[in-house]
Amino acid sequence: MSEGLDALVVGGDHDRVVGEVVDVVSRTAPEIREGLVGRRQPVGGEANPTGDTQMEADVWADDLLGERLRAIEGVGEYASEERESVVDCGEGLSVAVDPLDGSSNLVSNNPMGTIFGCYTEPIPAPGTALVAAGYVCFGPVTTMVVATDDGAAEYEIDGGDRRLLEGSVTLPREPTVYGFGGRVPEWSPEFTAFAREIEGECKPRYGGAMVADVNQVLSYGGIFSYPALGSRPAGKLRLQFEGNPIGYVVERAGGRSSDGEGSLLSRDADELHGRTPVHVGSPDLIDRLEDALA
Ligand code: AHG
Ligand code: MN
Ligand code: MN
Ligand code: MN
Repeated sequence: MSEGLDALVVGGDHDRVVGEVVDVVSRTAPEIREGLVGRRQPVGGEANPTGDTQMEADVWADDLLGERLRAIEGVGEYASEERESVVDCGEGLSVAVDPLDGSSNLVSNNPMGTIFGCYTEPIPAPGTALVAAGYVCFGPVTTMVVATDDGAAEYEIDGGDRRLLEGSVTLPREPTVYGFGGRVPEWSPEFTAFAREIEGECKPRYGGAMVADVNQVLSYGGIFSYPALGSRPAGKLRLQFEGNPIGYVVERAGGRSSDGEGSLLSRDADELHGRTPVHVGSPDLIDRLEDALA
């Protein structure tokens, strides 16, 4: 196993490959961070497969991560939010990446992240096929959370070093913060009623980058949602690159994930770029949310 995974065990034959994926993502993170300078503008007229404006940094980070992840022996597929189709690269784990999550925050210089998931099945795959997932958070410092079936660990990335901060990340039970995406008039009446309750119990913290918004839920306890909207019944976030990996991380940290009815991880994966409502956070709040939406 890779030195950086420390206490986490993946299981079976996947330890080495997941360890190398984690190494590539964490060694590339400082380069991505530095390379954002000068790449904070849209690529002229281009949109990615889900219609997002592509920033120069989105395309560049995808190229860099894609090249390195595909070179790992035991990675069989590479898929990204920024690519139309899955790239076949041999036999082995399928790696799905959101190279820059929250890339519209490049304009305002707010936090962003990189998300990855390692699936044992060809992509699109259900979250039950994940053996590891995680994210890098580009905040005031660069941190990384990695989850396997064994649990979740948090690291601090300093140049080429990845130092373990917490070997057993646990979502605090007491909820403190919430962040809900989308315009309020587009929420369903049921979600709106739930939000009104939560507003009385927690502090609003929404920053427009799921990685950073979920990272503070992991730190302080609470809930993050990007719900179904009137104009987008499946919400905004993508199951393969965002919903599944983040749901996996939160569940391994003792939280819950939901698409409104049940765990994100049991949602059918029909389309590569398919969307899903995303709700993650403290188990009690997700239970209440599902009751409210039922
Ligand atoms: P990405 O930058 O990878 O396309 O993801 C953006 C996502 C997610 O990070 C965030 O939660 C949400 O979009 C923000 O959307 P709004 O601008 O609608 O708040
Ligand atoms: Mn995007
Ligand atoms: Mn994203
Ligand atoms: Mn992205």
